[in-house]
Amino acid sequence: VIDISSLYASTGVFTYDPGFTSTASCESDITFIDGEKGVLLHRGYPIDQLAEKGSFLETCYLLLYGELPNKSQMDDFEHRVTHHTMVHEQMNRFFTGFRRDAHPMAIMCGVIGAMSAFYHDSTDISDPRQRMIASLRMIAKMPTIAAMAYKYHVGQPFVYPKNDLSYSANFLRMCFAVPCDEYEVNPVLAKAMDRIFILHADHEQNASTSTVRLAGSSGANPFACIAAGIACLWGPAHGGANEAALNMLSEIGSVDQIPEYIDRAKDKNDPFRLMGFGHRVYKNYDPRAKIMQKTCHEVLAELGIKDDPLLDVALELEKIALTDEYFVEKKLYPNIDFYSGITLKALGFPTTMFTVLFALARTVGWIAQWKEMIEDPRQKIGRPRQLYTGAPQRDYVPMDNR
Ligand code: ACO
Repeated sequence: VIDISSLYASTGVFTYDPGFTSTASCESDITFIDGEKGVLLHRGYPIDQLAEKGSFLETCYLLLYGELPNKSQMDDFEHRVTHHTMVHEQMNRFFTGFRRDAHPMAIMCGVIGAMSAFYHDSTDISDPRQRMIASLRMIAKMPTIAAMAYKYHVGQPFVYPKNDLSYSANFLRMCFAVPCDEYEVNPVLAKAMDRIFILHADHEQNASTSTVRLAGSSGANPFACIAAGIACLWGPAHGGANEAALNMLSEIGSVDQIPEYIDRAKDKNDPFRLMGFGHRVYKNYDPRAKIMQKTCHEVLAELGIKDDPLLDVALELEKIALTDEYFVEKKLYPNIDFYSGITLKALGFPTTMFTVLFALARTVGWIAQWKEMIEDPRQKIGRPRQLYTGAPQRDYVPMDNR
């Protein structure tokens, strides 16, 4: 009979770390976070500099190749991404198989997973060239697929990519242009969209990235791995928080209701949490939230939205929470999702699309992390152990004797 309790002792050091709060799952050169100081660096570059001075595709290049591109490298990269924006025409039929009221994230999980059937050539992960083609395919096609999910969701015809536009302008056009109507992309809004994508591009070993790495560690193809990441991102504690934060602001409705919700968030018998507040790693203001707040003001100003009741509630809620003893003591600050919902809503997206936009932007981070793992000669299949708490060994009892 096996003595289960002695099993762990016999294997030497055995750690149990629920939620991986203090366990590194990998080494990585890509992203650095100092949660105490509120610092986020990609390949050493601060997120605020990238968001202020760079473009999303430049950030993609940086994450994938480790250095910022020079002019000719950037032109070449942009050209290669641009030439992969179209999706296989048969994918249209795949979309139309879904119910119209399907959540766009459900559509994304299915369609991205199905890419391995449409682009079978780049499922050979042993070939570095195919790995790069798969990476570029996903970065390039994600806006097209996300826009198709949106168009299908709202019952409008698909708009094909227009590749003389920038990455983000092209995406806005694919979402909001309608046939027989000239659609001019507003450059201020395209710039804001681009910045939102930069802010979401990578965030080291968060739940969805760890999911991508774990799926990829078995040698699964990159499309399947990204589909796994999308499924994980959908949860309200992760990428679904932007949708949940906006719903919460709508539910609060007005500034005078805030104290009631603050009290609920502090009540341990109430499962309610302030969505868009708190972070596993940041115990300071999320640096992305600051840039998102600024972007939010820029978008509202450009659209001439002077009084947005949701923004009023958000600003006041932030002010109250930042001075409240409970939030101060637990170091709960606004995270990126707190202001992204208001901004995306002003840009014209329904709440159901918010996490889709997050997935679009995070795709490059997932791919960069997947490639880093696959290309590491020490790479092993991820196989966590467990602390067994079930019944001890016992004998099978015939059914008549139970
Ligand atoms: N509102 C009220 N209390 C909170 C909140 C919140 N938003 N977040 C954490 N707390 C409290 C918890 O109740 C807990 O209190 P306790 O120590 O008295 O039990 C303490 O702060 C620590 O919280 P944990 O849940 O243990 O922290 P964890 O690191 O596991 O969770 C998380 C982090 C999931 C982000 C959490 O803060 C949360 O649920 N926030 C709301 C959802 C959200 O905004 N998610 C987006 C994350 S960012 C991203 O994915 C892009």
